[in-house]
Amino acid sequence: MEIQLNTIYTEDCRSGLKKIPDNFVDLIVTDPPYGIKFGKNEGLYNRPKGGILQGYVEVPDYQYEQFSIDWITECFRVLKDHGSIYIVSGDRNLEFILKALRSAGFKVLNHLVWQYQFGVHTKKKFVTSHNLILFAVKNPKSYRFNRYCRFDQFTKTVHGKSANYKDRESVWYVSKEKWIKKITTPTKLPLKLVEKMIQYSSHAGDVILDPFLGSGQTAIAGKGLGLNYLAFEKNPVFSSFAKYRLSQDRYLVGLEEGKLLNLK
Ligand SMILES: C[S@@+](CC[C@H](N)C(=O)[O-])C[C@H]1O[C@@H](n2cnc3c(N)ncnc32)[C@H](O)[C@@H]1O
Repeated sequence: MEIQLNTIYTEDCRSGLKKIPDNFVDLIVTDPPYGIKFGKNEGLYNRPKGGILQGYVEVPDYQYEQFSIDWITECFRVLKDHGSIYIVSGDRNLEFILKALRSAGFKVLNHLVWQYQFGVHTKKKFVTSHNLILFAVKNPKSYRFNRYCRFDQFTKTVHGKSANYKDRESVWYVSKEKWIKKITTPTKLPLKLVEKMIQYSSHAGDVILDPFLGSGQTAIAGKGLGLNYLAFEKNPVFSSFAKYRLSQDRYLVGLEEGKLLNLK
């Protein structure tokens, strides 16, 4: 089967990635399962009740190391020489992702911190209110990095500092989006976060890949910024949701009598 651009494939990315030719993709932005057991909290995971789509596919802890090697090795193969990869990760299985990146041949350039507005409540330890984003490239001598894509060298912040420097600091504060009364998936990334990675590391017309698409954010952000997307999502409920959002060009979706519908 020939792989089609601007398509979401409902399948395990480990088999799906094998169908992509070598050196085909310019950028990978992804957020793999973290190896956390949601249990009965799948529908909540720090989100309001209702409207949370079910069927999130997790990876058992004991498989996480091999799982990471499998998909990250394939990502290295399908990336073009100038390509970059951003991987969002919790701290639980970070070591396996880092190991897999290095053994595949990637050069890790930054550990970015995505800080958000709340954490999961704890009593006897600090509250985690961030995720890590590993930024890595295939060829450290030649890769896309659009230094002035968001702020030129003259623009200042309200504190009189360079806005460009501030934007390129390794801690990114981006709020999680509120989806009350709307349909969502349990771990959707904010659009602004995904857009920032794309802006710094791609050109219009590039191909962006997300092997773990979830709600569709990477494809939506990529399409909005003039890129071609390619994505895999194993859960048919999430992939239908993502396809619906893309086909309708609607960011917000509701549910009535079991049917998805557009919201303003
Ligand atoms: C952390 S979520 C991604 C969330 C996504 N970034 C978003 O903004 O909605 C990980 C996703 O990977 C999917 N998944 C898990 N294992 C998979 C596999 N082997 N192949 C493809 N998708 C998989 C899960 O169902 C889940 O939707």
